[in-house]
Amino acid sequence: MALKLSVVGCGYLGATHAACMSSLGFDVVGVDTDPEKIALLSKGELPFYEPGLDTLLATEIKTGRLKFTTDFSAVAEADVHFICVGTPQSKDGLAADLSYVKSAVTAIAPHLKSGSLVVGKSTVPVGTAQGLREQLTQSAPQADLAWNPEFLREGFAVEDTLTPNRLVVGVANDRAEEILKEVYKPIIDLGTPWIRADLPTSELVKVAANSFLATKISFINAMAEVCEAAGGDVTVLAKAIGYDPRIGNRFLQAGIGFGGGCLPKDIRAFMARAEELGAKQALEFLREIDAINLRARQRVIDVVRAELTEDLTSYTIAVLGAAFKPDSDDVRDSPALDIAAQLQAAGAAVVVHDPKAIENARKRFPNLGFAASVEECVKDSDLILHLTEWREYRDLDPKALASLVKKKIVIDGRNALDRDKWRAAEWQFHALGRTD
Ligand code: UDX
Repeated sequence: MALKLSVVGCGYLGATHAACMSSLGFDVVGVDTDPEKIALLSKGELPFYEPGLDTLLATEIKTGRLKFTTDFSAVAEADVHFICVGTPQSKDGLAADLSYVKSAVTAIAPHLKSGSLVVGKSTVPVGTAQGLREQLTQSAPQADLAWNPEFLREGFAVEDTLTPNRLVVGVANDRAEEILKEVYKPIIDLGTPWIRADLPTSELVKVAANSFLATKISFINAMAEVCEAAGGDVTVLAKAIGYDPRIGNRFLQAGIGFGGGCLPKDIRAFMARAEELGAKQALEFLREIDAINLRARQRVIDVVRAELTEDLTSYTIAVLGAAFKPDSDDVRDSPALDIAAQLQAAGAAVVVHDPKAIENARKRFPNLGFAASVEECVKDSDLILHLTEWREYRDLDPKALASLVKKKIVIDGRNALDRDKWRAAEWQFHALGRTD
Protein backbone atom coordinates (compact mmCIF):
# COMPACT_ATOMS: atom_id res chain seq x y z
CA MET A 1 0.00 0.00 0.00
CA ALA A 2 1.25 3.45 -0.89
CA LEU A 3 2.41 5.57 2.00
CA LYS A 4 0.18 8.39 3.18
CA LEU A 5 1.75 11.68 4.11
CA SER A 6 0.97 14.60 6.35
CA VAL A 7 2.58 18.03 6.24
CA VAL A 8 2.46 20.05 9.43
CA GLY A 9 2.78 23.79 8.84
CA CYS A 10 1.45 25.07 5.52
CA GLY A 11 3.49 28.20 4.98
CA TYR A 12 5.91 28.61 2.15
CA LEU A 13 7.79 25.36 2.71
CA GLY A 14 4.83 23.24 3.78
CA ALA A 15 2.42 24.31 1.05
CA THR A 16 5.11 23.64 -1.56
CA HIS A 17 6.05 20.28 -0.09
CA ALA A 18 2.42 19.16 0.22
CA ALA A 19 1.55 20.06 -3.39
CA CYS A 20 4.75 18.52 -4.74
CA MET A 21 4.32 15.26 -2.81
CA SER A 22 0.73 15.05 -4.04
CA SER A 23 2.00 15.50 -7.59
CA LEU A 24 4.19 12.42 -7.03
CA GLY A 25 0.97 10.46 -6.39
CA PHE A 26 0.77 10.42 -2.58
CA ASP A 27 -2.30 11.16 -0.51
CA VAL A 28 -1.30 14.22 1.47
CA VAL A 29 -3.01 16.09 4.27
CA GLY A 30 -1.67 19.53 5.16
CA VAL A 31 -2.36 20.81 8.68
CA ASP A 32 -1.97 24.33 9.99
CA THR A 33 -3.37 26.33 12.91
CA ASP A 34 -4.23 29.31 10.65
CA PRO A 35 -7.84 28.86 9.43
CA GLU A 36 -7.53 31.57 6.74
CA LYS A 37 -4.51 29.92 5.18
CA ILE A 38 -6.21 26.53 5.25
CA ALA A 39 -9.41 27.93 3.70
CA LEU A 40 -7.43 29.39 0.79
CA LEU A 41 -5.26 26.33 0.23
CA SER A 42 -8.33 24.06 0.32
CA LYS A 43 -9.77 26.08 -2.57
CA GLY A 44 -6.51 25.60 -4.45
CA GLU A 45 -5.42 29.21 -3.86
CA LEU A 46 -2.00 30.24 -2.65
CA PRO A 47 -1.68 32.74 0.22
CA PHE A 48 1.63 33.97 -1.29
CA TYR A 49 3.24 34.35 -4.69
CA GLU A 50 5.39 31.55 -6.06
CA PRO A 51 5.72 30.95 -9.80
CA GLY A 52 4.34 27.56 -10.87
CA LEU A 53 3.07 26.58 -7.43
CA ASP A 54 -0.34 28.19 -7.96
CA THR A 55 -1.18 25.96 -10.92
CA LEU A 56 0.32 22.86 -9.30
CA LEU A 57 -1.72 23.42 -6.13
CA ALA A 58 -4.96 23.94 -8.06
CA THR A 59 -4.34 20.78 -10.11
CA GLU A 60 -3.52 18.66 -7.06
CA ILE A 61 -6.57 19.84 -5.12
CA LYS A 62 -8.73 18.71 -8.05
CA THR A 63 -7.24 15.19 -7.97
CA GLY A 64 -8.63 14.72 -4.44
CA ARG A 65 -5.23 13.47 -3.21
CA LEU A 66 -4.37 16.75 -1.50
CA LYS A 67 -6.37 18.09 1.44
CA PHE A 68 -5.87 20.79 4.02
CA THR A 69 -7.31 21.10 7.52
CA THR A 70 -6.84 22.78 10.90
CA ASP A 71 -7.70 19.52 12.65
CA PHE A 72 -4.49 17.85 13.81
CA SER A 73 -6.20 14.50 14.33
CA ALA A 74 -6.33 14.26 10.51
CA VAL A 75 -2.66 13.17 10.57
CA ALA A 76 -3.74 9.86 12.18
CA GLU A 77 -4.07 8.15 8.79
CA ALA A 78 -0.63 9.16 7.59
CA ASP A 79 2.56 7.10 7.81
CA VAL A 80 5.07 9.92 7.29
CA HIS A 81 4.69 13.39 8.82
CA PHE A 82 6.73 16.29 7.50
CA ILE A 83 7.28 19.14 9.96
CA CYS A 84 7.45 22.34 7.92
CA VAL A 85 6.77 25.08 10.47
CA GLY A 86 8.82 28.26 10.75
CA THR A 87 11.83 28.82 13.00
CA PRO A 88 12.07 32.63 13.03
CA GLN A 89 14.71 34.62 14.87
CA SER A 90 13.63 34.90 18.51
CA LYS A 91 12.46 38.31 19.71
CA ASP A 92 15.13 38.61 22.39
CA GLY A 93 18.32 37.52 20.63
CA LEU A 94 20.02 35.85 17.68
CA ALA A 95 18.83 32.30 18.37
CA ALA A 96 16.02 30.55 16.49
CA ASP A 97 12.58 30.40 18.08
CA LEU A 98 11.80 26.67 18.27
CA SER A 99 8.37 26.99 19.82
CA TYR A 100 6.51 26.20 16.57
CA VAL A 101 8.56 23.06 15.92
CA LYS A 102 8.05 21.83 19.46
CA SER A 103 4.32 22.47 19.46
CA ALA A 104 3.94 20.82 16.05
CA VAL A 105 5.53 17.60 17.32
CA THR A 106 3.50 17.75 20.55
CA ALA A 107 0.27 18.33 18.58
CA ILE A 108 0.69 15.30 16.33
CA ALA A 109 2.21 12.90 18.91
CA PRO A 110 -1.13 11.60 20.29
CA HIS A 111 -2.32 10.77 16.75
CA LEU A 112 0.70 8.87 15.46
CA LYS A 113 0.04 5.31 14.43
CA SER A 114 2.47 2.50 14.98
CA GLY A 115 5.54 2.58 12.74
CA SER A 116 5.04 6.16 11.62
CA LEU A 117 7.93 8.48 10.92
CA VAL A 118 8.09 12.17 11.80
CA VAL A 119 10.42 14.03 9.43
CA GLY A 120 11.64 17.50 10.30
CA LYS A 121 12.23 19.81 7.34
CA SER A 122 12.40 23.12 9.20
CA THR A 123 15.82 24.70 9.69
CA VAL A 124 16.79 24.09 13.33
CA PRO A 125 19.87 24.55 15.51
CA VAL A 126 22.05 21.47 15.62
CA GLY A 127 20.97 19.13 18.41
CA THR A 128 17.26 19.91 18.11
CA ALA A 129 16.41 16.72 16.20
CA GLN A 130 18.08 14.48 18.76
CA GLY A 131 16.19 16.22 21.57
CA LEU A 132 12.87 15.97 19.74
CA ARG A 133 13.48 12.30 18.97
CA GLU A 134 14.06 11.53 22.62
CA GLN A 135 10.93 13.47 23.57
CA LEU A 136 8.87 11.76 20.87
CA THR A 137 9.98 8.23 21.68
CA GLN A 138 8.82 8.83 25.26
CA SER A 139 5.40 10.27 24.40
CA ALA A 140 4.84 8.14 21.27
CA PRO A 141 7.17 5.11 21.40
CA GLN A 142 5.43 3.68 18.31
CA ALA A 143 6.96 6.46 16.17
CA ASP A 144 10.45 7.52 15.06
CA LEU A 145 11.94 10.84 13.99
CA ALA A 146 14.30 11.79 11.15
CA TRP A 147 15.53 15.08 9.67
CA ASN A 148 15.43 16.04 6.01
CA PRO A 149 16.56 19.63 5.46
CA GLU A 150 14.99 21.66 2.69
CA PHE A 151 17.07 23.71 0.27
CA LEU A 152 14.33 25.37 -1.72
CA ARG A 153 14.78 28.85 -3.04
CA GLU A 154 11.85 31.21 -3.30
CA GLY A 155 10.96 31.68 -6.94
CA PHE A 156 12.15 28.11 -7.70
CA ALA A 157 10.32 26.25 -4.95
CA VAL A 158 8.62 23.63 -7.13
CA GLU A 159 11.73 22.96 -9.19
CA ASP A 160 13.91 22.71 -6.07
CA THR A 161 11.47 20.28 -4.43
CA LEU A 162 10.85 17.98 -7.39
CA THR A 163 14.33 18.13 -8.94
CA PRO A 164 16.62 19.05 -6.05
CA ASN A 165 20.39 18.94 -6.51
CA ARG A 166 20.61 16.53 -3.58
CA LEU A 167 18.48 14.84 -0.93
CA VAL A 168 19.91 14.81 2.58
CA VAL A 169 18.40 12.62 5.28
CA GLY A 170 19.44 12.52 8.91
CA VAL A 171 18.38 9.18 10.37
CA ALA A 172 19.05 7.15 13.48
CA ASN A 173 18.47 3.75 11.84
CA ASP A 174 18.06 1.92 8.50
CA ARG A 175 14.28 1.72 8.76
CA ALA A 176 13.88 5.50 8.74
CA GLU A 177 16.12 5.72 5.69
CA GLU A 178 14.10 3.04 3.87
CA ILE A 179 10.84 4.92 4.49
CA LEU A 180 12.31 8.14 3.16
CA LYS A 181 13.68 6.31 0.12
CA GLU A 182 10.16 5.06 -0.57
CA VAL A 183 8.76 8.60 -0.37
CA TYR A 184 11.44 10.08 -2.59
CA LYS A 185 11.74 7.16 -5.05
CA PRO A 186 10.58 9.16 -8.10
CA ILE A 187 13.14 11.86 -7.30
CA ILE A 188 15.94 9.38 -6.55
CA ASP A 189 15.17 7.66 -9.86
CA LEU A 190 16.05 10.90 -11.65
CA GLY A 191 19.62 10.36 -10.45
CA THR A 192 19.42 12.80 -7.52
CA PRO A 193 22.34 12.29 -5.12
CA TRP A 194 21.19 10.73 -1.82
CA ILE A 195 23.11 11.57 1.31
CA ARG A 196 22.50 9.66 4.53
CA ALA A 197 23.78 11.44 7.59
CA ASP A 198 23.32 11.27 11.32
CA LEU A 199 20.82 13.68 12.85
CA PRO A 200 23.25 16.46 13.86
CA THR A 201 25.09 16.42 10.51
CA SER A 202 21.83 16.72 8.59
CA GLU A 203 20.88 19.79 10.62
CA LEU A 204 24.33 21.27 10.07
CA VAL A 205 24.25 20.71 6.30
CA LYS A 206 21.46 23.25 5.94
CA VAL A 207 23.00 26.03 8.00
CA ALA A 208 26.45 25.36 6.57
CA ALA A 209 25.07 25.71 3.03
CA ASN A 210 23.28 28.96 3.85
CA SER A 211 26.35 30.31 5.66
CA PHE A 212 28.48 29.56 2.64
CA LEU A 213 26.04 31.34 0.32
CA ALA A 214 25.84 34.34 2.64
CA THR A 215 29.63 34.42 2.80
CA LYS A 216 29.88 34.41 -0.98
CA ILE A 217 27.52 37.38 -1.25
CA SER A 218 29.24 39.35 1.50
CA PHE A 219 32.63 38.53 0.00
CA ILE A 220 31.67 40.16 -3.29
CA ASN A 221 30.09 43.09 -1.45
CA ALA A 222 33.35 43.55 0.48
CA MET A 223 35.14 43.56 -2.88
CA ALA A 224 32.62 46.18 -4.03
CA GLU A 225 33.69 48.39 -1.12
CA VAL A 226 37.34 47.97 -2.08
CA CYS A 227 36.53 48.67 -5.75
CA GLU A 228 34.81 51.89 -4.73
CA ALA A 229 37.85 52.93 -2.69
CA ALA A 230 40.36 51.93 -5.38
CA GLY A 231 38.49 53.02 -8.49
CA GLY A 232 37.64 49.51 -9.74
CA ASP A 233 34.56 47.76 -11.10
CA VAL A 234 33.17 44.87 -9.03
CA THR A 235 31.06 43.48 -11.89
CA VAL A 236 34.18 42.94 -14.00
CA LEU A 237 36.03 41.55 -10.99
CA ALA A 238 33.20 39.08 -10.25
CA LYS A 239 33.11 37.93 -13.83
CA ALA A 240 36.85 37.44 -13.92
CA ILE A 241 37.14 35.43 -10.69
CA GLY A 242 33.96 33.47 -11.49
CA TYR A 243 35.60 31.76 -14.47
CA ASP A 244 37.72 29.80 -12.00
CA PRO A 245 35.55 26.70 -11.48
CA ARG A 246 36.75 26.48 -7.89
CA ILE A 247 35.08 29.83 -7.29
CA GLY A 248 32.17 29.70 -9.76
CA ASN A 249 30.17 32.66 -11.01
CA ARG A 250 26.91 32.15 -9.07
CA PHE A 251 26.09 34.24 -6.00
CA LEU A 252 28.67 36.86 -6.87
CA GLN A 253 26.17 39.56 -7.70
CA ALA A 254 27.29 42.60 -5.72
CA GLY A 255 24.68 45.04 -4.49
CA ILE A 256 22.55 45.77 -1.46
CA GLY A 257 23.03 42.26 -0.10
CA PHE A 258 20.99 39.35 1.11
CA GLY A 259 17.68 39.33 2.92
CA GLY A 260 14.66 37.07 3.14
CA GLY A 261 13.36 34.57 5.62
CA CYS A 262 16.43 32.31 5.59
CA LEU A 263 19.96 33.60 5.09
CA PRO A 264 20.00 36.43 7.70
CA LYS A 265 18.27 34.52 10.48
CA ASP A 266 20.07 31.26 9.75
CA ILE A 267 23.56 32.70 10.08
CA ARG A 268 22.56 34.45 13.32
CA ALA A 269 21.01 31.31 14.79
CA PHE A 270 24.09 29.35 13.74
CA MET A 271 26.35 31.77 15.63
CA ALA A 272 24.12 31.58 18.70
CA ARG A 273 24.15 27.78 18.65
CA ALA A 274 27.91 27.58 18.13
CA GLU A 275 28.38 29.75 21.18
CA GLU A 276 26.18 27.43 23.25
CA LEU A 277 28.28 24.51 22.03
CA GLY A 278 31.56 26.23 22.98
CA ALA A 279 32.52 26.71 19.33
CA LYS A 280 31.90 30.47 19.20
CA GLN A 281 35.27 31.29 17.65
CA ALA A 282 34.68 28.99 14.68
CA LEU A 283 31.79 31.15 13.49
CA GLU A 284 33.06 34.60 14.46
CA PHE A 285 33.50 35.30 10.74
CA LEU A 286 29.73 35.17 10.28
CA ARG A 287 29.42 38.27 12.43
CA GLU A 288 31.50 40.08 9.82
CA ILE A 289 29.42 38.55 7.00
CA ASP A 290 26.32 39.99 8.68
CA ALA A 291 28.01 43.37 9.20
CA ILE A 292 29.16 43.63 5.55
CA ASN A 293 25.66 42.74 4.47
CA LEU A 294 23.99 45.44 6.56
CA ARG A 295 26.67 47.95 5.54
CA ALA A 296 25.67 47.53 1.88
CA ARG A 297 22.27 49.05 2.75
CA GLN A 298 24.00 52.01 4.33
CA ARG A 299 26.35 52.44 1.39
CA VAL A 300 23.51 52.88 -1.06
CA ILE A 301 21.99 55.55 1.19
CA ASP A 302 25.39 57.29 1.21
CA VAL A 303 25.34 57.35 -2.60
CA VAL A 304 21.84 58.86 -2.52
CA ARG A 305 23.05 61.62 -0.18
CA ALA A 306 26.12 62.23 -2.34
CA GLU A 307 23.90 62.62 -5.42
CA LEU A 308 21.27 64.80 -3.77
CA THR A 309 22.29 66.43 -0.50
CA GLU A 310 22.89 65.35 3.10
CA ASP A 311 19.43 66.69 3.97
CA LEU A 312 16.89 64.65 2.01
CA THR A 313 13.75 66.44 3.16
CA SER A 314 12.97 68.23 -0.08
CA TYR A 315 13.47 65.22 -2.36
CA THR A 316 11.25 62.54 -3.84
CA ILE A 317 12.88 59.17 -4.33
CA ALA A 318 11.40 56.43 -6.52
CA VAL A 319 12.25 52.94 -5.27
CA LEU A 320 11.95 50.09 -7.76
CA GLY A 321 11.52 46.86 -5.83
CA ALA A 322 10.33 45.91 -2.36
CA ALA A 323 10.69 42.10 -2.33
CA PHE A 324 13.92 40.65 -0.95
CA LYS A 325 14.58 39.20 -4.40
CA PRO A 326 12.78 39.02 -7.75
CA ASP A 327 9.98 36.50 -8.45
CA SER A 328 8.86 36.67 -4.84
CA ASP A 329 6.37 38.72 -2.83
CA ASP A 330 8.35 38.10 0.35
CA VAL A 331 9.50 41.24 2.16
CA ARG A 332 10.95 39.55 5.26
CA ASP A 333 14.23 41.31 6.04
CA SER A 334 14.15 42.81 2.56
CA PRO A 335 17.15 45.08 1.94
CA ALA A 336 15.05 47.05 -0.58
CA LEU A 337 12.26 47.83 1.85
CA ASP A 338 14.68 48.55 4.67
CA ILE A 339 16.46 51.14 2.52
CA ALA A 340 13.14 52.68 1.44
CA ALA A 341 12.06 53.00 5.08
CA GLN A 342 15.40 54.47 6.13
CA LEU A 343 15.24 57.09 3.39
CA GLN A 344 11.75 58.01 4.47
CA ALA A 345 12.88 58.24 8.09
CA ALA A 346 15.63 60.60 6.86
CA GLY A 347 12.93 62.94 5.52
CA ALA A 348 12.66 62.01 1.83
CA ALA A 349 9.31 61.40 0.16
CA VAL A 350 9.62 57.76 -0.94
CA VAL A 351 7.42 56.03 -3.49
CA VAL A 352 7.84 52.28 -3.89
CA HIS A 353 6.89 50.00 -6.77
CA ASP A 354 7.08 46.22 -6.91
CA PRO A 355 5.34 43.85 -9.33
CA LYS A 356 4.18 41.49 -6.55
CA ALA A 357 5.19 42.64 -3.07
CA ILE A 358 3.29 45.91 -2.59
CA GLU A 359 0.61 44.38 -0.40
CA ASN A 360 3.12 42.78 1.95
CA ALA A 361 5.29 45.90 1.93
CA ARG A 362 2.34 48.10 2.83
CA LYS A 363 1.49 45.87 5.78
CA ARG A 364 5.00 46.33 7.13
CA PHE A 365 5.44 50.04 6.33
CA PRO A 366 1.96 51.54 5.87
CA ASN A 367 3.34 55.09 5.74
CA LEU A 368 5.57 54.61 2.71
CA GLY A 369 4.24 55.82 -0.62
CA PHE A 370 3.27 53.06 -3.05
CA ALA A 371 2.63 53.15 -6.78
CA ALA A 372 0.81 50.67 -8.98
CA SER A 373 3.05 51.26 -12.01
CA VAL A 374 6.67 52.21 -12.66
CA GLU A 375 5.51 55.36 -14.43
CA GLU A 376 3.47 56.48 -11.44
CA CYS A 377 6.37 55.60 -9.13
CA VAL A 378 9.01 57.66 -10.93
CA LYS A 379 6.77 60.63 -11.74
CA ASP A 380 8.44 63.87 -10.57
CA SER A 381 11.13 61.97 -8.69
CA ASP A 382 14.59 63.39 -8.04
CA LEU A 383 16.26 60.01 -8.11
CA ILE A 384 15.44 56.40 -9.01
CA LEU A 385 16.78 53.62 -6.83
CA HIS A 386 16.75 50.15 -8.36
CA LEU A 387 16.71 47.70 -5.45
CA THR A 388 15.14 44.39 -6.58
CA GLU A 389 16.16 43.08 -9.97
CA TRP A 390 12.79 42.17 -11.48
CA ARG A 391 12.95 41.44 -15.21
CA GLU A 392 10.54 44.30 -15.96
CA TYR A 393 13.00 46.81 -14.47
CA ARG A 394 15.81 45.52 -16.64
CA ASP A 395 13.54 45.95 -19.66
CA LEU A 396 12.61 49.56 -18.85
CA ASP A 397 13.15 52.17 -21.53
CA PRO A 398 15.20 54.97 -19.93
CA LYS A 399 14.32 57.32 -22.80
CA ALA A 400 10.63 56.97 -22.09
CA LEU A 401 11.13 57.49 -18.34
CA ALA A 402 13.22 60.61 -18.84
CA SER A 403 10.22 62.83 -19.53
CA LEU A 404 8.50 61.77 -16.32
CA VAL A 405 11.17 62.51 -13.74
CA LYS A 406 12.46 65.75 -12.25
CA LYS A 407 16.11 64.65 -12.35
CA LYS A 408 17.65 61.92 -14.44
CA ILE A 409 19.61 60.13 -11.74
CA VAL A 410 19.47 56.36 -11.29
CA ILE A 411 21.30 54.23 -8.74
CA ASP A 412 21.46 50.51 -9.44
CA GLY A 413 21.57 48.73 -6.10
CA ARG A 414 21.65 45.29 -7.76
CA ASN A 415 24.10 45.75 -10.62
CA ALA A 416 21.47 44.45 -12.99
CA LEU A 417 20.58 47.42 -15.22
CA ASP A 418 22.28 48.09 -18.54
CA ARG A 419 24.52 51.05 -17.73
CA ASP A 420 25.23 51.92 -21.37
CA LYS A 421 21.53 52.03 -22.23
CA TRP A 422 20.77 54.44 -19.35
CA ARG A 423 23.77 56.64 -20.07
CA ALA A 424 22.89 56.75 -23.77
CA ALA A 425 19.55 58.23 -22.68
CA GLU A 426 21.51 60.86 -20.72
CA TRP A 427 20.90 59.55 -17.24
CA GLN A 428 23.46 59.93 -14.47
CA PHE A 429 24.04 56.29 -13.64
CA HIS A 430 25.65 54.94 -10.46
CA ALA A 431 25.99 51.42 -9.15
CA LEU A 432 27.44 49.87 -6.01
CA GLY A 433 31.04 48.79 -6.51
CA ARG A 434 31.52 50.57 -9.84
CA THR A 435 33.37 53.82 -9.77
CA ASP A 436 33.10 54.69 -13.43
C1 UDX B 1 18.04 30.62 0.39
C2 UDX B 1 18.92 29.46 -0.12
O1 UDX B 1 19.41 29.79 -1.43
C3 UDX B 1 18.11 28.19 -0.17
O2 UDX B 1 18.92 27.11 -0.59
C4 UDX B 1 17.57 27.92 1.22
O3 UDX B 1 16.79 26.75 1.24
C5 UDX B 1 16.75 29.09 1.72
O4 UDX B 1 17.53 30.28 1.66
P1 UDX B 1 16.17 32.20 -0.67
O5 UDX B 1 16.02 32.81 0.70
O6 UDX B 1 14.96 31.86 -1.46
O7 UDX B 1 17.00 30.83 -0.55
O8 UDX B 1 17.03 33.22 -1.51
P2 UDX B 1 18.40 33.23 -2.36
O9 UDX B 1 18.10 33.01 -3.77
O10 UDX B 1 19.42 32.39 -1.72
O11 UDX B 1 18.79 34.77 -2.16
C6 UDX B 1 19.01 35.30 -0.87
C7 UDX B 1 19.33 36.75 -0.92
O12 UDX B 1 20.64 36.96 -1.43
C8 UDX B 1 18.40 37.63 -1.76
O13 UDX B 1 18.11 38.80 -1.04
C9 UDX B 1 19.23 37.93 -3.00
O14 UDX B 1 18.85 39.16 -3.58
C10 UDX B 1 20.62 37.99 -2.41
N1 UDX B 1 21.70 37.69 -3.39
C11 UDX B 1 21.75 36.48 -4.00
C12 UDX B 1 22.66 38.66 -3.66
O15 UDX B 1 22.63 39.76 -3.10
N2 UDX B 1 23.66 38.36 -4.54
C13 UDX B 1 23.75 37.16 -5.16
O16 UDX B 1 24.70 36.95 -5.93
C14 UDX B 1 22.77 36.19 -4.88
